Amino acid sequence: MGVVRQLRQVDADAQGVDMAFRADVHAGLGQAQKAIPARWFYDATGSALFEDITALPEYYPTRSETDLLTRHAAAIAAAIGPGRAVVELGSGSAAKTPLLLGAIAPAAYVPVDISGAFLRDSAAALSARFPGLPVYPVEADFTQRVALPREIGPLAKLGFFPGSTIGNMVARSAIDLLRNWRTALGDGALMLIGIDRIKDIATLIAAYADPAGVTAAFNLNLLERINRELGGTIPVENFVHRALWNDVHARIEMHLVAACDIEFAVDGRRYRMAKGETIHSENSHKYGPRDANLLLRAGGWTPVATWDDANPGFALILAEAAAFRSAP
Ligand code: AVJ
Repeated sequence: MGVVRQLRQVDADAQGVDMAFRADVHAGLGQAQKAIPARWFYDATGSALFEDITALPEYYPTRSETDLLTRHAAAIAAAIGPGRAVVELGSGSAAKTPLLLGAIAPAAYVPVDISGAFLRDSAAALSARFPGLPVYPVEADFTQRVALPREIGPLAKLGFFPGSTIGNMVARSAIDLLRNWRTALGDGALMLIGIDRIKDIATLIAAYADPAGVTAAFNLNLLERINRELGGTIPVENFVHRALWNDVHARIEMHLVAACDIEFAVDGRRYRMAKGETIHSENSHKYGPRDANLLLRAGGWTPVATWDDANPGFALILAEAAAFRSAP
């Protein structure tokens, strides 16, 4: 079957710059606490740096999730069953996907990712590995409404949302996303989602502030990207990476800290930052078992099975589309 075609669902202006990126950067730099949404990390350089992060000894989520998919492949396959269209949200390199696809005998695979070039390569690699499987890549922001390929319409769906990517969203956005995908994937759908657990702070911080500086490079690349794509004049060398644990929100935050007073322009618009001021660039929320179940239920999904890696703490949760009715 191979890769059938790549659908593109992002807007670009005349210069080919993503209009949403431009708008988010100006809106975010205009706030008292400057903040830029984490999805803008993933240009080609950022996507490659994230792959490097997943190989770091301190970054446990990828290893934990891969272990879970490997060790529990049979149980996961039994719970999901064959013949589903697997829709992967934020597929990236799709490194873990073969473990799932190899276990469950799916009828189609739909990787959804905002990084078009990355998507093309990973879809081709996946298709080569599963020659009989139709692959329908969709270049889109999975936090927005995504039109699924018509061909998978009649198939039962499995949403696959690994990596604890949902942790990037604050609860309200996470619930909106889960509800949207509940509607998009339809009755009878299942969702297999990776959730990072709350754990000791030292382990969490080490995973987001590695001594090799890969996460720092990943964070700083956001500024380089603004300079490259939006004609920015940000002096990147005057920023430092910071990762901190916010206990009230149960999340790791990444910031870009101004090491001195800084002035710069983006698109000709001027911004200034005082020494110590930060651009908040990412949230990575962590969930206890009850928190995760509550989040899923609020989003229209009923948890049916959990595979837990107790040490250091990561979970794969299988949930089924809940009926649209009020409780009890
Ligand atoms: C891809 C969102 C799951 O939050 O752990 C890794 C991104 N940021 N190191 C995460 C990330 C810094 C990652 N997610």
